[in-house]
Amino acid sequence: MVNNCICIVEGIVLAFYAVFYAVLALMFAICMAGLFSVLDDRKPTFILGSSLIGANPGVASRPRGIAFDTQNSSNFDDYMNELQEFLKPYENETWFSSKKKCTKEDNYGFPESPCAFVKLNKIYSWKPDFIGATELPADMSEDLQEYIKGLSESERQQVWVSCWDEKNNSTTTQIEYPWGRGLAGRFYPFLNQDGYISPLVAVRITPPTNTLIAVRCRAWAKNIVYNKSLKEPSGYVRIPIMITDHAAVNITVSATS
Ligand SMILES: *[C@@H]1O[C@H](CO)[C@@H](O)[C@H](O)[C@H]1NC(C)=O
Ligand SMILES: *[C@@H]1O[C@H](CO)[C@@H](O)[C@H](O)[C@H]1NC(C)=O
Ligand SMILES: *[C@@H]1O[C@H](CO)[C@@H](O)[C@H](O)[C@H]1NC(C)=O
Ligand SMILES: *[C@@H]1O[C@H](CO)[C@@H](O)[C@H](O)[C@H]1NC(C)=O
Ligand SMILES: *[C@@H]1O[C@H](CO)[C@@H](O)[C@H](O)[C@H]1NC(C)=O
Ligand SMILES: *[C@@H]1O[C@H](CO)[C@@H](O)[C@H](O)[C@H]1NC(C)=O
Repeated sequence: MVNNCICIVEGIVLAFYAVFYAVLALMFAICMAGLFSVLDDRKPTFILGSSLIGANPGVASRPRGIAFDTQNSSNFDDYMNELQEFLKPYENETWFSSKKKCTKEDNYGFPESPCAFVKLNKIYSWKPDFIGATELPADMSEDLQEYIKGLSESERQQVWVSCWDEKNNSTTTQIEYPWGRGLAGRFYPFLNQDGYISPLVAVRITPPTNTLIAVRCRAWAKNIVYNKSLKEPSGYVRIPIMITDHAAVNITVSATS
């Protein structure tokens, strides 16, 4: 009689768990089916303004920062590997293979004048609203304004990039743009095209050695909001750079002593 009771209880418990897990599995299957029926392989469900990312593309750079000791060869190798990896998808592009500076061949400018590559983060279906030559903003640097005015109308279909040393506006830090100063408009919008790659602006920076600097690169289009605030940055990327050169330190030390 006691044995019988235990059997019945066991049976009830087993049956309960069997039903419980079956229902759980069913609910999970329904959820996944619902999710996949909504998702499109190529098109995100939320786009532009409705997306959490928002419609203002972030500005990014590779490397994100440069901390480099000229005597440390593994520092050098790390940057070479990072940049080679990053630029690999670009190798078959004709516009890319014509570049002379900021390439693997010149070690991306390392160590004296390292290159950083500035791009916009991809936002599905975002299109830049180009700034016309007659409506250049007053806070745009003079050299960029001159550069834009020297281009033809079709060449002005670009998102402009300008960079400056946050502290010492180019008095000690030299900045060059060996590939040009814009992200070409023909790359937009991004619609998850096969093999899509983001356009890049190469920024070749010659900083003072043994000094921590920050280069700020701003992207310019009418629909890229710039907020210079460090707390809520938008429309720019900051690239901290520190190149340690022990030889230069010794020269400074012996010159002052
Ligand atoms: C050289 O750089 C690497 C990182 O690239 C670091 O791990 C290592 O400690 C550095 N060596 C010296 C001697 O500073
Ligand atoms: C780029 O082209 C080379 C040959 O020119 C080929 O070997 C390589 O697989 C291609 N890479 C990509 C990512 O398409
Ligand atoms: C540096 O120059 C840029 C462009 O001309 C300007 O927007 C920025 O305010 C300047 N920064 C400093 C610290 O003077
Ligand atoms: C910045 O420039 C000023 C002169 O314009 C110079 O006195 C100062 O040493 C520079 N600072 C650095 C960190 O290069
Ligand atoms: C920029 O960010 C600051 C907060 O850091 C905020 O108070 C300000 O409204 C923002 N400006 C714009 C134009 O969004
Ligand atoms: C510079 O001085 C430091 C220490 O005084 C020394 O270790 C280093 O080898 C020197 N560098 C050169 C290039 O002379």
